[in-house]
Amino acid sequence: MKIGTYYYPEQWPREQWERDLDRIAAMGLRIVHMAEFAWFDLEPSPKDFRLDWLSDCVEMCRQRGLDVILCTPTAAPPVWLSDQFPEVLITDEHGTPHRHGGRRHYTPTSPRMQEASYRIVEAMATRFGHHPSVIGWQIDNELSGPFDQSEATHKSFRKWLRKKYLTIDALNAAWGNPFWNTYYQDFDQILMPQSRDPGYRNQHQNLDASRFWSWAWADFVKLQADALKRSFPASRPAPFITTNFMPFHPDADPNDMRDSLDLWSWDSYPVSGFGRDFKDEQFRFGDMASIQFTHDQMASYNGRWALLEIQPGQINWSGFPCQPYPGAVRLWLWTAIAHGCELITVYRFRQPRFGIEMWHAGLIGLDGVTPTSGGEQFAQVATEAAKVWPDAHPTSIESNQPSAGLLLDFDQQWNFTSLGQAKRWNYSELLCQYHQALSRMGYRVRVLHPNEPWPSDLKLIVAPGVQMVDDALLARWQRYVDAGGHLMLTCRTGLQDRDAQFFETAYGAKIANLIGADISAYDSLPEETWGTIDLDGKAYKWGVWGDQLEPAAGTDVWASYTNMFYTGAHAITHRKQGSGSVTYNGVYGDRALAEAVIEKVARTIGNQAVPLLDRVRVLERDGFFIALNYTDQPTTAPASAGATFVVGSRELPPAGVAVWK
Ligand code: GAL
Repeated sequence: MKIGTYYYPEQWPREQWERDLDRIAAMGLRIVHMAEFAWFDLEPSPKDFRLDWLSDCVEMCRQRGLDVILCTPTAAPPVWLSDQFPEVLITDEHGTPHRHGGRRHYTPTSPRMQEASYRIVEAMATRFGHHPSVIGWQIDNELSGPFDQSEATHKSFRKWLRKKYLTIDALNAAWGNPFWNTYYQDFDQILMPQSRDPGYRNQHQNLDASRFWSWAWADFVKLQADALKRSFPASRPAPFITTNFMPFHPDADPNDMRDSLDLWSWDSYPVSGFGRDFKDEQFRFGDMASIQFTHDQMASYNGRWALLEIQPGQINWSGFPCQPYPGAVRLWLWTAIAHGCELITVYRFRQPRFGIEMWHAGLIGLDGVTPTSGGEQFAQVATEAAKVWPDAHPTSIESNQPSAGLLLDFDQQWNFTSLGQAKRWNYSELLCQYHQALSRMGYRVRVLHPNEPWPSDLKLIVAPGVQMVDDALLARWQRYVDAGGHLMLTCRTGLQDRDAQFFETAYGAKIANLIGADISAYDSLPEETWGTIDLDGKAYKWGVWGDQLEPAAGTDVWASYTNMFYTGAHAITHRKQGSGSVTYNGVYGDRALAEAVIEKVARTIGNQAVPLLDRVRVLERDGFFIALNYTDQPTTAPASAGATFVVGSRELPPAGVAVWK
């Protein structure tokens, strides 16, 4: 298991490089990640490439047996580019171009930006593409930006629309332009929307804009990936290409980058202080469910994934610079390892002395030599992982745990943000709820995508909030159930076509046969107002959506409403179909409800596992069991009597980790 760190040599005196790299090696770290944001230092004026300093540093890494991940520096284009070609600057909703003097100030659609990016990436690839220490490349950093209003983006959006619709009549129909007579006569009249929120404009246009914007980032990534691949050696395994995603961030759908990436990675900052509803000091651990979901999401594209950035201590940017719980950094590293990551690197090695992130922790404190608590935890995990896998790295992410599928459809997220349907409705939270509920029952969650093959051995698939469907997906669900699969669907499913227009049917009619119930009405409640349902004699609350279901003969009712004027109406149903089944949860409530429903589904289909304790998880990798305690209370690892512990022991302290065979 390789663990490493981001290092920015250009931010430190050259005399300190060797000392820092010695320290990295001494801490047991094996990877150094460099060159992110260093465009100016690498090309101080157009085509004047100065790569020697980086080459020296890569060489220093080689001498110490450290692997290198290089980053293309395009997230921070140099001042000469903004000066010479102001059209590279991303333009905000008021038509004001971003100023130079930070990062992410460019638009991916600008031909000048693309040209300059290709040039610097090609120069770096020519110099380092063959270097034996360079194991991988990160393209750019956290691809994102507001819906750009530059001419290049308007043009590119139009071109994308032309290709999609061919005729303006087809576009007018898909966008519902008879509504308020918003017809277009020609593609050239269309503008990229000013923001994700359409206000009182057209949400169908915004949905397409989200799709286009992700395509534009993917296109920019492909340009760089192509430049890199040209210089990769044919004689040995090529370095991987990745880009670091932010969790649930709407700008870039990782699925759009399958042509370019070999490894998927993300950046995790669990303790931002933004989370709510935490008990005691649980805010110092972050939301376990969203961390776990994103790990499994990253693993879902081709099985190769990495945690590229992880919070090493206090952060600067959220306005809540809380200390993580002692041991939390180690816990996060082991969580990623348990989920099958290939490598982990941390942002960043040293806390900076200057710059906007000077209050951001590193593995090393301000004196440049003393490890912080995060640094000590990194070194500890490096030692522990070497105990678990002494000669080799874990090879696969396969595990013997029973798995369950969880369908992720980025398009639904874009649709929900294009037209807010209820204030508290939150697609990513819904996914996290079901992830938490499944992993509590001991399932390994496999994140599925609508247009990709699904593993044939999945006994249970949960597909929450799939509002836009097409006949192919509906048929796929039916085939899955016919073949003995157990499918769980939720409120807000199957109502719209892929243009996000309603089907011309009764509400919910498209899935009525599949779920074995009609949806006669739905309700949603004001902020801080909760409805209740009864599920097996226990009360659960809901507030966002509550479908009122009319089950057909042969469909079982699992839960009904216990307050509101429709008390007694049905909320959750279950229908056996051959050896398969469909469960429909018409209620979006809290995590406790999702847990109860999934537990009942699991029991019904024969999973008798004892549910794991709240915020305590056990995963299996390579034959090792890894227990993770995301609470501030001690607990006991659920290991069998004969377990041999390699890390930790049966007694799991707060934030504790244990690994056993
Ligand atoms: C990330 C970003 C890093 C750094 C970090 C600070 O989102 O990719 O470059 O800014 O935040 O927490």
